[in-house]
Amino acid sequence: MNVLIVSNRLPVTTRVDAGGVTVVPSNGGLATGLRGVHERSGGLWIGWPGVPAELPTPIRRAIDQRLAAVGAVGVPLAAREIDAFYQRYSNGVLWPVLHDMLDHPAAEPSDWEAYRTVNERYADVVARRARPDEVVWIHDFHLMLVPRLLRERCPSLRIGFFLHTPFPSIEALATVRHHAALLDGLLGADVVGVHTRAYAARFLDAVRALLGRATSPSDVEDGARRVHVRACPMSVDVSAFEARATEPRVAAMASHMRRDGERLLLGVDRLDYTKGIPARLDAYARLLEREPSLRGRVRLHQLAVPSRESVPAYQALRAEVESTVARINARFGTREWTPIEYRYGCVDDVTLSALYRAADVMLVTPRRDGMNLVAKEFVASRVDGDGVLVLSEHAGAAAELRTALLVDPDDVDGLARSYSAALAMSAPERRVRMRRLRSAVRRHDVFQWAREFLLALGGGGAALVGRSAG
Ligand code: ADP
Ligand code: G6P
Repeated sequence: MNVLIVSNRLPVTTRVDAGGVTVVPSNGGLATGLRGVHERSGGLWIGWPGVPAELPTPIRRAIDQRLAAVGAVGVPLAAREIDAFYQRYSNGVLWPVLHDMLDHPAAEPSDWEAYRTVNERYADVVARRARPDEVVWIHDFHLMLVPRLLRERCPSLRIGFFLHTPFPSIEALATVRHHAALLDGLLGADVVGVHTRAYAARFLDAVRALLGRATSPSDVEDGARRVHVRACPMSVDVSAFEARATEPRVAAMASHMRRDGERLLLGVDRLDYTKGIPARLDAYARLLEREPSLRGRVRLHQLAVPSRESVPAYQALRAEVESTVARINARFGTREWTPIEYRYGCVDDVTLSALYRAADVMLVTPRRDGMNLVAKEFVASRVDGDGVLVLSEHAGAAAELRTALLVDPDDVDGLARSYSAALAMSAPERRVRMRRLRSAVRRHDVFQWAREFLLALGGGGAALVGRSAG
């Protein structure tokens, strides 16, 4: 049975410039994680091409062709819809609320209207494309109304929805004026998936408290239907990361990165205020302050992927992170030694794997994160059984990766102490902890995740059976 994937972000993002139309791989865990599932399932992926629809017809045709070549279908969004639906409502209002951050701007009625209109357009495109033998799998917070809208258009379709963010507290959700419509939209699905049991429990609580619906421990009543709620932790393509980590060019690049015997701390994130980067950097400065013997002997490599650059909060974060890096480098750096190597941009797969292999300590310290695939990619890449993972207790991944050094991402002192403990950890302890982390990640890779969800949805999982790493 085919799976039709629907998300706002496609696995590729279109670029249009003087040289014509090109596509580049998209950023973010949804696109990177689902890419392999899409390739193996062989179905279509419906989403936004990444550019405004107001383009000359030949260019629009060229975009459609590029997308078709990778099994994708574009949903056109006008420039003003990108501003209202994507930048302001999805990223400006919903994203902070879903991460329990309450200082979000109030929604303008016209932004909510745009959210609804775009969700309707998605439902129309999917209704036209979905075949009766397919299951439809809708992803993430941009499209919370689509399950119900699609159910109205195609009552007998099997519809799944997966939320890649945390599910917030009732108090946070209730600050959004249209919370009831959003929750009701989700209940058009047959199965609603989230990463952890805690998020599933919060979802059921919200449905009871804010919609007054009856629930059982894993179901919600929706008229004559029952909606199944399932905790399914997303993961990564473990075999692909393992295979890449053992390539000779990756090993060569990794040993070059570990130059002069410096110990390497690594951060890899989209530049997002949920990722806890400022406190992570402050804690590194605190470490250097407290342990002067480390100066010249450690280095923090921070990769920051450009993200949502038109949203003011992201512009402010970039300025804050870059001035913090400059301040720390000016304070502690010498002619021979730069404490923080900061890179704003993407790196290719080989470089990313080499960084994961080279790192002594991986810093994954989000203030809130639905799952955090970087943590799992790091573990999957450590075929050598070494390396220490410092992991926020507020990342969904912490529910599975219990032998990481778990930290409070807002506690700068505590973070500095964890970095110190990670650097001082004995080789036998590192190996024991990493062995347990690796067995957790290998047990449940991204194909297992998709298979579990699709089997719960009643189809499509079989295509992915037997392909997992572990
Ligand atoms: P989010 O979905 O919030 O961005 P995740 O940690 O779940 O967070 O996923 C991030 C994805 O982006 C991972 O697959 C990671 O490998 C990728 N990524 C992060 N930084 C970079 C970078 N500098 N270059 C290339 N890929 C990156
Ligand atoms: C997170 C979200 C995804 C989103 C990604 C990148 O992972 O859960 O839905 O695609 O960030 O953000 P962007 O706004 O570029 O799609």
